[in-house]
Amino acid sequence: MKIAVLPGDGIGTEIVAEAVKVLRALDLQIEMEEAKVGGAAYEAHGHPLPESTLKLAKQADAVLFGAVGDWKYDKLERSLRPEQAILGLRKHLELFANFRPAICYEELTHASSLKPELVAGLDILIIRELTGDIYFGQPRGRRSAPDGAFAGQPEAFDTMRYSRPEIERIAHVAFQAARKRGKKVTSVDKANVLETFQFWKDVVTEVHTQYPDVELEHMYVDNAAMQLVKAPKKFDVLFTGNMFGDILSDEAAMLTGSIGMLPSASLNARGQGLYEPSHGSAPDIAGQGVANPLATILSAAMMLRFSLNQPEAAERIDRAVKSVLAQGLRTADIYSDGTTKVGTKEMGDAVVARLKAQD
Ligand code: IPM
Ligand code: MG
Repeated sequence: MKIAVLPGDGIGTEIVAEAVKVLRALDLQIEMEEAKVGGAAYEAHGHPLPESTLKLAKQADAVLFGAVGDWKYDKLERSLRPEQAILGLRKHLELFANFRPAICYEELTHASSLKPELVAGLDILIIRELTGDIYFGQPRGRRSAPDGAFAGQPEAFDTMRYSRPEIERIAHVAFQAARKRGKKVTSVDKANVLETFQFWKDVVTEVHTQYPDVELEHMYVDNAAMQLVKAPKKFDVLFTGNMFGDILSDEAAMLTGSIGMLPSASLNARGQGLYEPSHGSAPDIAGQGVANPLATILSAAMMLRFSLNQPEAAERIDRAVKSVLAQGLRTADIYSDGTTKVGTKEMGDAVVARLKAQD
């Protein structure tokens, strides 16, 4: 088993170090090779996703990714900005299936911005299509408006598009995932306005005929945004396209108390995957040793489960995380009165200590 370790920028390096520590504590035969990505790679090699980093990622069974981005790169031309690294990895490795679980841990029910009774026991799985939609659709760019009331004026444009096979393959992923859980898929679209999402809805409905045991519901994205804060527990698998998934997954993250708790997996058809926390590089707290490493540690658990076929080891990490929370240890983002505030490294050490205690 070989994993590519790409810490990236900001808190990325701090949290990935803790996840690596946890992986090493499992005593599995995992080869790990580290490379630069994002702003760090731009500084070192002049590009956010250097050829050598991409090659390492392609060769590995899985990629453990931290986070990329810093305000200081905002003025670079788009192709050199740190975000292009993660978009490039998704595209080049064909990581079309993004899993973003939003689970509210019992101990953190009060850290949510919603009333505890709305989020207690929350367990949603967001499945986001990750390599299509307006994120990657061509053409895009700037030009002089060819027509309309503002013809001749400068304008910018992007293209929203989805092909039938792209929708079909992610719909299968969603239905199969639902089969292993609450057997309900909510497909989120904007079919009332967008051609792309009427097509999405039609194709999803067709694929659903192969999954009669799974309930399918369609919901407009604006309503989904509202239902997520009104009655989030009604969702089981929330399934949607790239852009809506980006937005709704941040919203769902907040329900759980902190985005610092949420792991994610992005898979291709070969089972190769990229595993990263759902949060970003948080340059405002970088270097202070206060970031929550649990989302990255839980992402490592997803990696063991989905790409490395080590479900027991994954289970051990999940249990160790629950147990440090039960012990009352909290990083600043999930801290509340009566709990013990710890830093990034102490949190990682505590997870390792719980793992050792399981032996
Ligand atoms: C995410 C992030 C990325 C996205 C950015 C960093 C390109 O927000 O993974 O949700 O928009 O997909
Ligand atoms: Mg996002």
